[in-house]
Amino acid sequence: MSTELSDAVGDLNIEQTNENGKCENEDDDIVDPWNVVSKSQEGIDYDKLIRRFGSSKIDQEFIARFEKVTGKKVHHFLRRGIFFSHRDVHTILTHYEQNKPFFLYTGRGPSSGSMHLGHLIPFIFAKWLQDIFDVPIVIQLTDDEKFLWKDIKLEEANRLAYENAKDIIACGFDVNKTFIFSNMDFMGQNPEFYRNILRIEKCVTFNQVKGIFGFGDSDVIGKISFPAIQAAPCLSSSFPFIFGKAKVPCLIPCAIDQDPYFRMTRDVAPRLGYSKPALLHSTFFPALQGAQTKMSASDNNTAIFLTDTPKQIKNKVNKHAFSGGQATVEEHREKGGNCDVDISYQYLTFFLEDDERLEQIKKDYTSGALLTGELKKILIETLQPIVKTHQENRAKITDEIVREYMTLRKLNFQC
Ligand code: TRP
Repeated sequence: MSTELSDAVGDLNIEQTNENGKCENEDDDIVDPWNVVSKSQEGIDYDKLIRRFGSSKIDQEFIARFEKVTGKKVHHFLRRGIFFSHRDVHTILTHYEQNKPFFLYTGRGPSSGSMHLGHLIPFIFAKWLQDIFDVPIVIQLTDDEKFLWKDIKLEEANRLAYENAKDIIACGFDVNKTFIFSNMDFMGQNPEFYRNILRIEKCVTFNQVKGIFGFGDSDVIGKISFPAIQAAPCLSSSFPFIFGKAKVPCLIPCAIDQDPYFRMTRDVAPRLGYSKPALLHSTFFPALQGAQTKMSASDNNTAIFLTDTPKQIKNKVNKHAFSGGQATVEEHREKGGNCDVDISYQYLTFFLEDDERLEQIKKDYTSGALLTGELKKILIETLQPIVKTHQENRAKITDEIVREYMTLRKLNFQC
């Protein structure tokens, strides 16, 4: 595996990706930090993505080791292939077995005030990881990224970071082990962060980011240097108030579209004397209209927002959730429904924890015993309490509590 970034795009050999993760032909799914589009109704071909990106599949053997090392049953996101791919997690598990420390890193680009269900997935999972491993987590809010990429005022992006922090905190992160930061503010609070950004910036050429991210001549220069800012939290020395001078390995749970940032980081980190960050990749949370694309906050009808009322949830699911059922009841009873394309079923795989019940639903829908309307009703009744509980938890997060999570401080952690 290459540890040297080559200057020529054609020679790029980061993580031995196939053409650096880019599409080989027109039929390939598009997956990058800005676009997720599949031509298939069943959504992205994730096995193909693993081959293209050169990551490792999360299989039974991986899950068995994970359970052995942690002594706990894995989260249903792992059991059901929602977190489906990884890089170097075996190294982290070995580290953990040897009682050596590591930390978690994830983030969010605060582009809208109202987060949707899909945005919760990495945070629900990260909170679970924090609990089972009892490790610290740093959460980056990329208000700078959203300012650069979206038509949004700088002050507004910064405000949204603090709004979104409330939704993130509402997922239940342990205040003694969690540090949340806005890039815009953190940059001025902690010189070590900018120093690491500089070190990373010096390792990567324009040609290389062009190859990885597809930047072009007319992209503003802020975009071109941004990947270094998303990379820097992988280096524990970016947080001297938490880790001191220790070099602590990093594990990143994220959606697979963020992988380009960390392919770049994995190449740079060893050159700066750090281990490569390990990754756990999730699939995308599909849009209500179907799995060709992910849920998006900019289209009201593709998304269930964390601010939606029970009635709105009911209406959206009934009206918009793409159905794998048949056109008439008679036909459905005869031929059965298709869970592979049915969005209500897909959402249940994310949010219905009971494995046996989910299995029964799949059987009944496939055989035609369960109708689309009935399946939608199960989904509505599953989502309504989850969203309501989230709203109740969020309502308790005061500005003071946000300040606590976002204050530079020592965490409850020994390295
Ligand atoms: N770029 C990500 C987004 O737009 C935010 C982010 C920053 C992130 N650091 C991260 C996501 C680390 C996952 C892991 O949402």
